[in-house]
Amino acid sequence: MITLTVNGTEHSFDGDREMPLLWYLRDELGLTGTKFGCGMAQCGACTIHLDGYATFACITPISMAEGSDVSTIEGLTENGDHPVQVAWRDLNVSQCGYCQAGQIMQAAALVDSTPEPTDEDIDAVMSANLCRCGTYPRIRAAIKQAAQARTK
Ligand code: FES
Ligand code: FES
Repeated sequence: MITLTVNGTEHSFDGDREMPLLWYLRDELGLTGTKFGCGMAQCGACTIHLDGYATFACITPISMAEGSDVSTIEGLTENGDHPVQVAWRDLNVSQCGYCQAGQIMQAAALVDSTPEPTDEDIDAVMSANLCRCGTYPRIRAAIKQAAQARTK
């Protein structure tokens, strides 16, 4: 039996310990904000937080989340008012939207760990998350806005 906390609620799972965490979040808990893209750690669409660290849920067996705190886009904030989410809306970052939950989760972890990210910091971290719509310039600007808002 695996116990884990997802978005503040404790859950138990009695099944295949090797099942990707992404399947559990989407199919068992119905948290479909986290997307499936490549399934092989190449796109970042499935980015969630595992104990505060941005993590690809597609390659993370659920057993690795045992006793951990998992956050998905649904649990990042109650009202969608995380500084990253506010900046994303202000700057109209999203285009088709498919990659954006993963982008936001990656960006939220970045501004947590790096209060004043440089372009190089942003590129180093965000290069793990692909956007086929090419929203990269807006993502970079939104991360800078969010980081500034957090330090005020
Ligand atoms: S679906 Fe996980 S990195 Fe692409
Ligand atoms: S907004 Fe379309 S893939 Fe990123």
